[in-house]
Amino acid sequence: MSLNPKLKDWRGKRVWIIGAGHGIGAALVNELHSLGAELILSGRTLSALQAVEDGKTGVSVLPMDAREPAAWQACYAALSQQNKILDAVIFSLGDYTPMRTWQLTPAEVDQVISTNLSAVLYGITTVTPDFIKNKQGSLILLASVAGWGGMPNSLVYGATKAAIQNLAQTLYLDLKPQGIGVYLVNPGFVKTRLTAKNQFTMPALISPETDAKEICLGLSQGKFEIHFPKKFTVILRIITLLPNAIYFWLMKRTTGL
Ligand SMILES: NC(=O)c1ccc[n+]([C@@H]2O[C@H](COP(=O)([O-])OP(=O)(O)OC[C@H]3O[C@@H](n4cnc5c(N)ncnc54)[C@H](OP(=O)(O)O)[C@@H]3O)[C@@H](O)[C@H]2O)c1
Repeated sequence: MSLNPKLKDWRGKRVWIIGAGHGIGAALVNELHSLGAELILSGRTLSALQAVEDGKTGVSVLPMDAREPAAWQACYAALSQQNKILDAVIFSLGDYTPMRTWQLTPAEVDQVISTNLSAVLYGITTVTPDFIKNKQGSLILLASVAGWGGMPNSLVYGATKAAIQNLAQTLYLDLKPQGIGVYLVNPGFVKTRLTAKNQFTMPALISPETDAKEICLGLSQGKFEIHFPKKFTVILRIITLLPNAIYFWLMKRTTGL
């Protein structure tokens, strides 16, 4: 039984991707474009969005800083003027700096929480009133396996991803009866500029292109939670369900931190 509508046919579907200029978001642009979707690409860096757009038909760019509620309102007003329903929003923005507790600063707290959590909530408040009115729409939220359990170096980042996982469940409970799909994506390690900051060898590292295909596969199956690569995520999931003493021991042993 699928918990969500199966998103199989993307032809003519209008999808707004936040964080489309790099990494997973950029790979999703290419994948969804090949499946026939009409795409709106957002992010802060116009040149990066234009490089991904690269003359593709049915693809447009709409730069914004998603940490600003006013930017959401202005961009959504511009999209609404086109008199075409928005079918889905993909929240693929994110920020991450690996650090230990004693390295944390208030500025880092604000930066990561505003990007990974507040921006997503602002987006949801912007688009859901029309989704509810139209009794259709899909919210696709990028969290991470880092939200499943505390890990060294994932300070703030992991906490925001756990918050996104919690948020997705609440959204599902509120919005499923309104005809809206809520999809939670928890990838393992993906080779992007975000993970380029990691100093360790990342297990089961995948490319953004593989990541985008896995996301589209999960969406086509109507899953609520989409996690991959399974050879890594299934083991990690089991580890996070173990008693705390064993979990802490395993984390320390595997990370050496
Ligand atoms: N890479 C992984 O291993 C991995 C694993 C699990 C989950 N994820 C999640 O997947 C998502 C995408 O990550 P990624 O690896 O593709 O990272 P990335 O390559 O750094 O891409 C992040 C995107 O977010 C945009 N962005 C950042 N701040 C923004 C803001 N304030 N307003 C609008 N856009 C903003 C960036 O563009 P600008 O800088 O131009 O704004 C960029 O296009 C994130 O939510 C991340 O947490 C990644």
